[in-house]
Amino acid sequence: METRAASAVRITAPVEIGVLIGAFCFTLVYYACLLDELNTKLDALQQILDGVPWFLDGERSVMTAKTLSTSAPDQPLIDREILATKVFTPATPVSESALFAGRMKELRRVIDTINQRGRHAVIFGERGVGKTSLASVIASRLKVPDATVIAPRVNCDSNDTYTSLWKKVFSQIDLLKKTPAVGFQLSIFEETIKAADVIKENAGPDEVRRLLSLLSTTGMLIIIFDEFDRILDDTTRRMMADSIKALSDHDVPVTVVIVGVADTVDELISQHESIERAIIQTKMPPMSIPEVEQIIDNGMVRLQMTIERTAKSEIAMMCQGFPHYAHALGLHATRACLDRSEVNITHADVDTAIKRCLMDVDQTIKSVYDKAVFSPQKDTLHAHVLLACALVRAGEFGYFTASAVREPLSAITAKSYDIPGFSRHLKDFSEESRGRILQKEGVTRKFRFRFRNPLMKPLIIMKGIAEHRLSVDLLKRYQA
Ligand SMILES: Nc1ncnc2c1ncn2[C@@H]1O[C@H](COP(=O)(O)OP(=O)(O)OP(=O)(O)O)[C@@H](O)[C@H]1O
Ligand SMILES: [Mg+2]
Repeated sequence: METRAASAVRITAPVEIGVLIGAFCFTLVYYACLLDELNTKLDALQQILDGVPWFLDGERSVMTAKTLSTSAPDQPLIDREILATKVFTPATPVSESALFAGRMKELRRVIDTINQRGRHAVIFGERGVGKTSLASVIASRLKVPDATVIAPRVNCDSNDTYTSLWKKVFSQIDLLKKTPAVGFQLSIFEETIKAADVIKENAGPDEVRRLLSLLSTTGMLIIIFDEFDRILDDTTRRMMADSIKALSDHDVPVTVVIVGVADTVDELISQHESIERAIIQTKMPPMSIPEVEQIIDNGMVRLQMTIERTAKSEIAMMCQGFPHYAHALGLHATRACLDRSEVNITHADVDTAIKRCLMDVDQTIKSVYDKAVFSPQKDTLHAHVLLACALVRAGEFGYFTASAVREPLSAITAKSYDIPGFSRHLKDFSEESRGRILQKEGVTRKFRFRFRNPLMKPLIIMKGIAEHRLSVDLLKRYQA
């Protein structure tokens, strides 16, 4: 045994010396390459850094923005019950590319904007149509194999100022700071800092632009400002518009994406005339029926479950283009099906899902509905008229006229109605006593209406189905 051990030592000794020499040479070469790369970057960035005196306090360092992960990793199929809550997320925007349905036209338009130098994007539309989800998947849908994509997304709020908004952005970007240690050529000091830490407290558009120029040398930069409609301060909005214009004029390779609830771009960005050429607008309409069906299909694929064709189309029709309800109904229908220890969702599961969805509805929305249809007598005409309003094929921005309500109302009640028979009800809906569920616009005989909260429409339709005032066949008749 001893002999064998001794010979083993004799055999391995030269190998170890070889490995040590090899490792030493490799280390030398590695440091040489690192220093070479460092010097090249230093030279390239020196010009930019010279123009940003507040940025580095005279220190010679290289900063590299780190890659941000853009999509969540796939979930293993542990348990359908748990997985269902990750696949159907009524309360959170979609961020995983594989679960994002439809919206090809809108995605293409935003990606085209990003690919054009000097152009920036504005994504706007009604509440809940899927604006944030679209903004969240942009980075993962860009086909830039070798480039680092840096896409911070910040939520604006009513207290934000120009500086606080950009601070939020820069606090999401990590910089890798490499500094050669003084006196010893072979060591490089690395530290991670936030981009926000290198910008002045009261930074203005010029500082922001210069920091963005610097960051854009390290990757493809897309900056998303979500809920832009919540900014109340006009000066902040104007400065943001000016910033976008300055980024275009100076040809800084960065794309700003503004996202918010609005009927038009003018509502979202003030001073928009001056930046007209710099922005490309993407209006988000409610989703089409096939797009909503795709949300359900994506969920079924991930859950390894199936759904009856008619059950799926009933869900899609009830949603009225609002994907929140596809998620809510998809989740409850999945649970109802799993409660039966089955994996094929049926019509009966959708019926159960409707009831559970109605129980989950936010208390504020529920009380607005109850106030709108309240009746001390047996009279249910308010509920019928409201249901007819929800069925109307509305025009742009969700508006409809009294004459458009006539036909669905007659179909629901199986009784012929003329406008005077329900115009009082329409008027009531726009008043405080009925919760102002509708918004009224225009002049006498030319009034037009729309739901103040468009998410109310699917809820009213679900109520109609649950209370047997609306059949699926009738619902089908009023789909676009
Ligand atoms: N393309 C999509 N595919 C799948 N689900 C989607 C899609 N778009 C939106 N959703 C889902 O719809 C719901 C609302 O989406 P999101 O929050 O993106 O809308 P929003 O327009 O930003 O709403 P808000 O106006 O309230 O900010 C979420 O549950 C989200 O998961
Ligand atoms: Mg949103």
